[in-house]
Amino acid sequence: MKKVILDVDPGIDDAMALALAFKSEKLDILGITTVAGNLPLETTTQNAANVLDVLEGKCKVYKGSEKPLEKHLRTAEHIHGPTGLGYLELPEIKENIAQQDAVTFMAEQINRYPGEITIIAVAPLTNIAKLFKDYPKIDEKIAEIIIMGGAVDVKGNVTEQAEFNIYADPEAANIVFSGKCGKTLVGLDVTLKVLLTAKELDEISCIKNKVSDAVEKMTRFYLDKYENVNKLAGCALHDPLAVGVAIQPDIVKTTPMYLEVVEQEGENRGKVLKKAQGEIIKVCKGVDSDKFLRYYIEALK
Ligand code: BDR
Ligand code: CA
Repeated sequence: MKKVILDVDPGIDDAMALALAFKSEKLDILGITTVAGNLPLETTTQNAANVLDVLEGKCKVYKGSEKPLEKHLRTAEHIHGPTGLGYLELPEIKENIAQQDAVTFMAEQINRYPGEITIIAVAPLTNIAKLFKDYPKIDEKIAEIIIMGGAVDVKGNVTEQAEFNIYADPEAANIVFSGKCGKTLVGLDVTLKVLLTAKELDEISCIKNKVSDAVEKMTRFYLDKYENVNKLAGCALHDPLAVGVAIQPDIVKTTPMYLEVVEQEGENRGKVLKKAQGEIIKVCKGVDSDKFLRYYIEALK
């Protein structure tokens, strides 16, 4: 089993990603760390705890960064709803929220299992950047970071140039991109090819178990936003795909690249640029979307 830490900002697709991770027998989930992103930190942390309870996960939720390294927080309730989980209403669970903070937890686990841990980061990269800053050379002890973020050869989704997670904290992204560990970027180049439509959602609604029912309620809201706000035929499974890559790496095709993120204020802030040298990042350029969609639905059964 692959030892993983899930760094999230739930958020509907984050919660959908958690559902996939906890349904998989290939992942040993050490903990969930939270960060401000789609919603403020208190909400993302509470949502993670409530979702973890539905999934009957045995690990804990570790609260992380309240705001990006240098700039203001910009949230995304217009896509995820005021509570962050669309139409899903869950009881508030406090018991599975740990006292320890996210960065200390990550460092402790990485030092305990050097070279073994994969971080699946599907939110702004603030926690991981702080980890690299506070614990020099800890990056060398991480097996891999799978990052949902960036738009390399396609348009952005927050601005013309930038994707949400990278735009939210470009300074953090640059720190993480220069880390000396395996790095895979699951960006809009592939996630916008994995669209869940009303047809698949109807299939999910027929499964009828606790997890599929919860996913169905959230996704109905998310699909509506994608159809009406983003004008797409389905909703993009951004964060679930990053979990899918951890479980089954051959679901995507990658190209090695050196990347940096524009930090300068202005229309290019958050844009991912290719550069001539640096630390290699495996950038996902192709995806077997049908296979992944089938895999996601089967996992909920
Ligand atoms: C990313 O932005 C967030 O809104 C989603 O949860 C996902 O992580 C997609 O750009
Ligand atoms: Ca997310």
